[in-house]
Amino acid sequence: MFENLKPQPADKILALMQMYREDPRDHKIDLGVGVYKNAEGITPVMRAVKAAERRILEEQETKAYTGLAGDPAYADVMIDLILGSSVPRGNIAAVATPGGTGACRQAFEMIRMANPSARVFVSDPTWPNHLSILSYLGIEVVPYRYFDDATRGVDFDGMITDLKTAKAGDVVLLHGCCHNPTGANLNLVQWQEVVNVINDLGLVAMIDIAYQGFGDGLEEDAQATRLVASSVKRCLIAASCSKNFGIYRERTGLLMAVSDDPAQTALNQATLAFLNRQNYSFPPDHGARVVTTILNDETLRADWFAELEDVRLSMLGLRRQLADELQRFSGSDRFGFIAQHRGMFSRLGAAPELVEKLRKDHGIYMVGDSRLNIAGLNAATVPILAKAIVEVGV
Ligand code: LMR
Repeated sequence: MFENLKPQPADKILALMQMYREDPRDHKIDLGVGVYKNAEGITPVMRAVKAAERRILEEQETKAYTGLAGDPAYADVMIDLILGSSVPRGNIAAVATPGGTGACRQAFEMIRMANPSARVFVSDPTWPNHLSILSYLGIEVVPYRYFDDATRGVDFDGMITDLKTAKAGDVVLLHGCCHNPTGANLNLVQWQEVVNVINDLGLVAMIDIAYQGFGDGLEEDAQATRLVASSVKRCLIAASCSKNFGIYRERTGLLMAVSDDPAQTALNQATLAFLNRQNYSFPPDHGARVVTTILNDETLRADWFAELEDVRLSMLGLRRQLADELQRFSGSDRFGFIAQHRGMFSRLGAAPELVEKLRKDHGIYMVGDSRLNIAGLNAATVPILAKAIVEVGV
C-alpha cells in the first residue's frame, strides 16, 4: 500500500524554514515564516501567557474532556474579542480548533458539506496553505485580483470586477486584517463595497483573521470583520491566537459560523461539532484555557494588551526604518509602501531571481514571492537588508 504514495508538493514557507536552519552562515537573516521575533531574535512567551499558565498549573483540577466545541467560555471571550457586540450572540455558532489552520480546514469542509458545487474566490495572492487545503479537499478555487504590482497596494477595481463574476452560493475568502502575504489592506469604504457585492450576488463571506492586533490596533483590526459579520446573511470566520497571544505551538483557533437567522444557529453549531468529531474529536484545550484566563482577568488582559501593543509598535517602527533606509540607499521613494503596509508581512514585489540572489549572496531569507516578515528584522539588520535589496536591483 505505502508504495502507492506519491511525494506531495512541499509547503514553500516551511521548506524555506528548513533551508534557513541548514544554512551555516552566521550573518543569515530569517524573514520567512510568520513568527514574531523581538530585537534579540527571540519569540518570547508573553508575560500574561506565563502568568495564566502558572495559574492553570496551580488551579486546574481535571484534564477530562471538554466538549466537542471546546470550552464554551473560550468561544465567548474570542467572540467578544473579534466581534464585540456587532452580532447578537444567538446568531453565532463557534468551535475551538487546532490553530487558525484548523479553523480554515473546518470552514472549507463545512462549505463543501453545505454546497458541494461552491467555488471559493481567493485573493491573488493568498496564504499558500489556503490553496493547498482547498485543492486537497477538491474545492474549486477562483483567484480574484488583489495586489497591484505597480503601486504595491490593493488593485481594488480589479478585485471588485473579479468578485462580480461569482455566482450565488460561491464563497469569498477575505483576510480580516494584515493581509498575508502582501501587507496591503482595504480601507473601510472599500470593505463596504465588498459587502455590497457579496449581498447583491448572494455570496458567502469567509474571513481569515490571524493577525488581530498586529496592524492598527486590537479594535481597529477587527472593524472590517465586524462590518462584514453584521452586514451579510451568513459568514464563516476562522481566527487564530498563534500570533497575538504568541502561542504558535499550542494550536489555538476558533471557527465561527454567523447567520442573520438565529434559528439556523443550532444546526450550524451541531455541524461544527460533528466536523470536530470526525477530524480530531475534542480540540486542544491548553492554549484556549490560557486565552480564556487572560481575557477574563482584568489585570492579565491589560498586561497582554500592553505587550501586544509593544509588538505592534515595534513592527511599525521597523517598517518606518526600512522605508527610510531604502530611500537612503536607492535615492528614491519607491519603497514608501513598506511604511503603509500593515501586519507582519510586506510583499516587496521583487522577481524570484532577485529573492534567490538575496538568499544566495546575502543570506537573507524571504518567501519566493518576495514576502518578507518585518518582525524578523531588528534595528541592526534593517540597513543590511535595505542595502542588499538595492544592490541586487529590486
Ligand atoms: C505564515 O504565513 O508564515 C504563517 O501563517 C505560518 C504558516 O503556518 O504558514
